[in-house]
Amino acid sequence: MKIGIIGSGYVGLVTGACFAHLGHQVLCVDNDVKKIEMLKRGKSPIYEPGLESMLKENIRRKRLSFATKVDRATRQCEILFICVNTPPKMNGEADLSFVENVSREIARNLKDYRLIVEKSTVPVQTGEWIHKTIKQIQASESLFDVASNPEFLREGSAIHDFLNPDRVILGVSNARAEKILRKLYAPLKANLVVTDLKSAEIIKHASNSFLATKISFINAVARVCDATGADINNVALGMGLDPRIGPSFLNAGIGFGGFCFPKDLSAFLRMSERLGVRFDMLKEALTINDEQKKYFIQKIENTIWNLTDKTLAVLGLSFKPNTDDIRYAPAIDIIRELQHEKVKIRAYDPEAMTRAKQELRDVKFCRNAYETVRNADALLLMTEWDEFVDLDYKRIKKLMRHPVLFDGRNALNPAEMRKIGFKYCGIGRG
Ligand code: UDX
Repeated sequence: MKIGIIGSGYVGLVTGACFAHLGHQVLCVDNDVKKIEMLKRGKSPIYEPGLESMLKENIRRKRLSFATKVDRATRQCEILFICVNTPPKMNGEADLSFVENVSREIARNLKDYRLIVEKSTVPVQTGEWIHKTIKQIQASESLFDVASNPEFLREGSAIHDFLNPDRVILGVSNARAEKILRKLYAPLKANLVVTDLKSAEIIKHASNSFLATKISFINAVARVCDATGADINNVALGMGLDPRIGPSFLNAGIGFGGFCFPKDLSAFLRMSERLGVRFDMLKEALTINDEQKKYFIQKIENTIWNLTDKTLAVLGLSFKPNTDDIRYAPAIDIIRELQHEKVKIRAYDPEAMTRAKQELRDVKFCRNAYETVRNADALLLMTEWDEFVDLDYKRIKKLMRHPVLFDGRNALNPAEMRKIGFKYCGIGRG
């Protein structure tokens, strides 16, 4: 089938590459000319394991091409995916202006029937707005339908998640749209859940909000563990064996980041309030997440006397491992807060250095973990990259001025670290 992807970012690029991989003909559109030029050369503007090779392979097989104008996709493709970003406004609501602009551009070029599919994470009722907007310009409703097909891709495992979905949600308003999307996803042989547009939109927001709330819950429990000497990893293990709870997303730490959870929680909360629904649980999930960073800094202040002019080594800047994305990354906020106390920061991340250098000032960016910890008064592990778990911590200890380790992701074994001679501080690790 011929597919147009409008918006070639984290979601659009993975979606386009994977649909091409499944044998479809895909045209990825983006208004960033430099990004499109880079993509035409087979270079990925984002770090996502496996993406660049999948792009190259499908460009070679002529299944994947790129353009900067929406009209080409509207003319050539029977299905048009809206994958543009929906950043948060100051009040936390989702900014849908990019979605509106794309809807208008599609409407202006509609000649034959097109199925327009919202894949960007959008608040409920957005599909209705897209329909109304296109109808204003292109009166004939027989020329288009609008559907919702939210994504559940985790950065760092997005290709795996696309090709091995727990479920594919198809929010449709008629049988024609359903038939088209069933044919599109047929190669995946996935569990297709067909529902209405609004339910599909809410499934996405509610899923991310629940996952984020689950993380804030375990982070609050970790504080209780700190206050009592219990071990949060044992508590999470015991809880997670109940299939109604499940072991995933029970890892306590410095909180969730990324461009999805914080944004989607706020957008869902604001939309609920606009609908007259009190949803304070989401407020609390956001509050706990913000407090978790302050809680981690408090641990540092309680452990290191006179922080001013001390040197702290930060390992990990991305919001999670296997990505270069630092959007809403706890590490960035914590570094900025510590710099107010005139702390000297040395930092390293396997993939996020380029992006971090654009965001942070007065940080000594190092080439590897061992250089980072040299003469440091403490080590802050902020992202649980495998390479940080596998470091030679006896060597690390020798390189540091003082063997003090704050494990923001509970990625290390406290007994092993203490045996090496570190003063080890985790989050809820007893
Ligand atoms: C998330 C959702 O998982 C995905 O389904 C959705 O499509 C997009 O948003 P992503 O943000 O890429 O994916 O990463 P995820 O693995 O969910 O982690 C998000 C944040 O939560 C990270 O900062 C991670 O460190 C944190 N996290 C995750 C925890 O603090 N504890 C956990 O147990 C799990």
